[in-house]
Amino acid sequence: MNVVTLNQIGKTYHLDAVDVPALVGIDLEIRPNCFTVISGPSGSGKTTLLNLIGCIDQPTRGEVIVAGETVQNLSDDALSDFRARHLGFIFQNFNLLPVLTVEENVEYPLLLARVPAAERKRRVAALLEAVGIADKARNIPGQLSGGQRQRVAIARALAPSPKLVLADEPTANLDSQTGAAIIALMREMQREHHVTFVFSSHDPKVMAEADDAVMIRDGRIEDIVRRDARAGGAA
Ligand SMILES: Nc1ncnc2c1ncn2[C@@H]1O[C@H](COP(=O)(O)OP(=O)(O)OP(=O)(O)O)[C@@H](O)[C@H]1O
Ligand SMILES: [Mg+2]
Repeated sequence: MNVVTLNQIGKTYHLDAVDVPALVGIDLEIRPNCFTVISGPSGSGKTTLLNLIGCIDQPTRGEVIVAGETVQNLSDDALSDFRARHLGFIFQNFNLLPVLTVEENVEYPLLLARVPAAERKRRVAALLEAVGIADKARNIPGQLSGGQRQRVAIARALAPSPKLVLADEPTANLDSQTGAAIIALMREMQREHHVTFVFSSHDPKVMAEADDAVMIRDGRIEDIVRRDARAGGAA
């Protein structure tokens, strides 16, 4: 089963009495255990698309199915619970809580998910080790570089063992070398944790890393390249 199915999605924003069609007629299936990149120029609709997949926003038309759930059918409470259990998010500006330490930031979603303390400690330590930031566990985000902050954000996104991790231009605020290291880390974590990763980028170079590449332009899918048909088979 696909992790995400979008059927004839449309999204129109209303801005000062003007309709802005951000997405038009999107049909898309995201395969499990794959690293999928959504690429396209600025304003093409990448963030809008990720927000729909991440159940942060609702489409104007069409159907969003994530992990077998038709998102429109869920109440607000059920939806926040669903997001907390199944989805992880990585943002362009890292979005860490500034007053919490690195380990507390990674632990936070586990507190929300009511994971017992011993299990929380174990998972946080293992994840900080895996993303190469264990030595900064007791620092606050303000004491870290951008690349280090994004490592923390990756650990935080993976902490509740989500089915799907979404990352909106996760390397946009990093220099190209650090950005490449972050993409490689996300790829490694995607494989190790058997999680589905969807991230957006306007950098065509990152497409080389992806299993599937979805190109969008003016709110429409221009092309989908599925590189390795075997990647989806082992789910
Ligand atoms: N809240 C909003 N209200 C009105 N229009 C919006 C809103 N958010 C996005 N848009 C419009 O929808 C279209 C798609 O925007 P979106 O942010 O999804 O593009 P993007 O591909 O993520 O761009 P970027 O690469 O610059 O981040 C653009 O024309 C944008 O102006
Ligand atoms: Mg965007």
